[in-house]
Amino acid sequence: MKNIRHFLTLNDLTAAEFKQLLERAVELKRMQHAGELYQPLVNRTMAMVFEKSSTRTRISFETGMTQFGGHALFLSPKDTQLGRGEPIEDSARVMSRMVDIIMIRTFEHSKIERFAQYSEVPVINALTDDFHPCQLLADMQTYLEHRGSIAGKKVCYIGDGNNMCNSYINAANLLDFELCIACPDGFEPMSTLTAQHQNRVSIERDPAVAVKGAHLVVTDVWASMGQEKEQATRIQQFSGFQVSPALMDSAAPEAVFMHCLPAHRGEEISTEMLDDPRAVVWDEAENRLHAQKALIELLLMDVIKE
Ligand code: CP
Ligand code: NVA
Repeated sequence: MKNIRHFLTLNDLTAAEFKQLLERAVELKRMQHAGELYQPLVNRTMAMVFEKSSTRTRISFETGMTQFGGHALFLSPKDTQLGRGEPIEDSARVMSRMVDIIMIRTFEHSKIERFAQYSEVPVINALTDDFHPCQLLADMQTYLEHRGSIAGKKVCYIGDGNNMCNSYINAANLLDFELCIACPDGFEPMSTLTAQHQNRVSIERDPAVAVKGAHLVVTDVWASMGQEKEQATRIQQFSGFQVSPALMDSAAPEAVFMHCLPAHRGEEISTEMLDDPRAVVWDEAENRLHAQKALIELLLMDVIKE
């Protein structure tokens, strides 16, 4: 039996692997920008299962596979039997008999866990309701490129305690940084995670207090995919949690701002926030490509060596 490595949360990496992956992502980016051809996955295929919309995730995985000399298949539940009720377990067994790696964006995290359990090839979490680990690879690469090691720094996450926030807690643990989360009452991240990492993760109600001295300020949408009906009420509930250049002025002088995008200007960020020189969101978006190439390389190491 092959040793199959999945990437369902950041905890599927050791701290050392996470750091090496970031270094490798920086190197793959340099190679790509220099026009060096590197095709370790000729004749290999990635299946990309999207049960939710995507711009960055789809483009980065598909382009990454093309650059590696392989191919990526876009599969939506609308046009596959997954959408007509073929069990996850059967779909996983069938797909993994044909492709080399599978990426899934879905709702319940348990769904991707079940899929991985039955897959004979690596499964990557491309976002679930609970976690978005691929985004953290890109965010951490971006911080590294702009400011060096994040170890010992203070990160402030402002907004909903959602999949991004949960993944930031995992990153704080692996990369050794302090995380202060400013969220309204009732919108906290997973309590099991905050309890487990209370030595470095804190919850603060006032964004102006949370952001003090932060080296990285992050936010995300107030209503995630699947919560569209709550959008209007959430705008009320999150009032006062908007990130703006004025709020950033309370962070450390060398602070950078990130947002996984798509952003809602006028809601979680002020209209001018993405144009502020402290915003590194376009590099962050680009790094999805490079960081995920490093991830694919790690998960398919055995295939590449063959
Ligand atoms: N940040 C992110 O995952 O973007 P998409 O939803 O466009 O893939
Ligand atoms: N929290 C957002 C992230 C989108 C990339 C969502 O789940 O919709």
